[in-house]
Amino acid sequence: MIIRQETQEDHQEVHRLIKKAFKSTRYSDGMEQDIVEALRKGETFVPELSLIAEVNGQVVGYILFTKVKIGDATQLTLAPLAVLPEFQRQGIGRALIAEGHRIAKALGYDCVVVLGSDAYYPQFGYIPAAQVGIQSPYDIPSKNYMVYALSNKIASIKGLVRYPKAFDM
Ligand SMILES: CC(C)(COP(=O)(O)OP(=O)(O)OC[C@H]1O[C@@H](n2cnc3c(N)ncnc32)[C@H](O)[C@@H]1OP(=O)(O)O)[C@@H](O)C(=O)NCCC(=O)NCCS
Repeated sequence: MIIRQETQEDHQEVHRLIKKAFKSTRYSDGMEQDIVEALRKGETFVPELSLIAEVNGQVVGYILFTKVKIGDATQLTLAPLAVLPEFQRQGIGRALIAEGHRIAKALGYDCVVVLGSDAYYPQFGYIPAAQVGIQSPYDIPSKNYMVYALSNKIASIKGLVRYPKAFDM
């Protein structure tokens, strides 16, 4: 498996991949692939953090980290993460998260927020965001809104998270 930055040639395949991966999940609204298309056109898009996992030349996984505001700070949100059903539970999601965190840190970000499964993200070091004073703008159980610290500056990052408009779809 290799992980690399997505290019324009990958867009169609990534669209199909996200659609397939989210199809059978019960919490999806089926809009994830369209949100990604909209995010790519916005100023919160970080090309270095739009990553694909490839196995034998096939795109099998995708992860995107986008800029959000937390209080006055510009940090990141992880959304979406998608692995083709037939390639799940093989460590691809884990590898995409690890590579994304490595690049995000190198780019100077301090934390990543995620709205997701509290059975999945805590194993990578995500903790409930409310515990460190970071508030979700969504009306969801607080255990499903998590944050990962990329640096020790996280202690000074507090407040409500504001998302780009594309997430309102
Ligand atoms: C969630 C998803 C990205 C996980 O990708 P993946 O490549 O299967 O994950 P990994 O194989 O790297 O999993 C890492 C670990 O988490 C476990 N795991 C995988 N899916 C899990 C889930 N849904 N809940 C809890 N644990 C899970 C794996 O067993 C593995 O544990 P191990 O290392 O002890 O074996 C993938 O299932 C997917 O695309 N789902 C549909 C879309 C989606 O729900 N995206 C997440 C939005 S929050």
